Amino acid sequence: MKKENIYILGIESSCDDTSAAVLCNDEILSNVVADQKIHAEYGGVVPELASRAHQQNIVPVVHQALSGAGISKDQLSAIAFTRGPGLMGSLLVGTSFAKSLAYGLGIPLIDVNHMQAHILAHFIDEKGHQKPPFPFLAMTISGGHTQIVKVTNYFEMEVLGETIDDAVGEAYDKSGKTLGLGYPAGPEIDKRAQLGNPKAYKFTKPKVEGLNFSFSGLKTAILYFIQRETKANPKFIEENLNDICASIQYTIIGILMDKLKLAVKQTGIKHIAIGGGVSANSGIRKALKDAEKKHGWTTYIPKFEYTTDNAAMIAIVGYLKYLEKDFSDFDVMATARLKI
Ligand code: KG4
Ligand code: ZN
Repeated sequence: MKKENIYILGIESSCDDTSAAVLCNDEILSNVVADQKIHAEYGGVVPELASRAHQQNIVPVVHQALSGAGISKDQLSAIAFTRGPGLMGSLLVGTSFAKSLAYGLGIPLIDVNHMQAHILAHFIDEKGHQKPPFPFLAMTISGGHTQIVKVTNYFEMEVLGETIDDAVGEAYDKSGKTLGLGYPAGPEIDKRAQLGNPKAYKFTKPKVEGLNFSFSGLKTAILYFIQRETKANPKFIEENLNDICASIQYTIIGILMDKLKLAVKQTGIKHIAIGGGVSANSGIRKALKDAEKKHGWTTYIPKFEYTTDNAAMIAIVGYLKYLEKDFSDFDVMATARLKI
């Protein structure tokens, strides 16, 4: 007997991207992301503006995802949505929309943990992308998250370490602000870092026990360093920008790699999957490739569009939960501080 196709609509609205995706089994048919330019003016995400923009975007984004996939809403098997963690006002938009649509269509509703979704994005069926074997280590690095997780099975995950203050992407963005770069500054720092000397300036790495991270001290150290140097030479930034960016990047990648090496040592697991916006970074990609040769690791990096916040990753979790018949009640609540 031919197996019936399962169509999942995924909805993501945890931060500043409104996204909807349609999946047929584990293959993506469409993945639409409306990012919100408005936050650039403020140098960071403004929660109230994000929530309002989600309200404006959600209907056209879902509509575009369905038409891009070439299916009608009556063909959907279930609707998966981000329950948390994230900004409450933003989560509420996606949660309420998903509930009403699923209720109206009479199909199951599936709640998804955003952090699990970043990891399970590796199980989207994609030509050329190898899925990591269990158990593996996942490092999620973005503007909102910095976490190392031991993944024993799809829904058996253990957080080994996470940031105790800023996320790694924030360290990029806040250092960029100090240097007068636009928001988000990660891509620009990365571009300039490749043209500069990584050992031009030395920033001390934070001393944090075990597998937790801290980035707020580094941000402050960079601020004081720039204030001191520009006092002596007002043109310090413009004359040395590439070297400054290279030195910041060298420090940040060093911090991430030290923790990954410790996680490998503690667990004996050498399959490493990364995700989140910062996984686009040339420095981390190169460091991982080097570790493959030097330490025998196997590393996994998903396609960029599935690594930043997107609904395809929500839909794949929806599919995996659908197979388990793990559905939500309609009184499920958005939860800003949801744990893995
Ligand atoms: O995953 P994402 O799109 O959104 C969340 O924060 O959840 O990640 C955005 C973050 C920003 O902080 C941005 O500066 C950073 O990812 N980023 C980068 C690079 N591309 C994006 N950081 C360093 N190097 C990059 N190439
Ligand atoms: Zn995210």
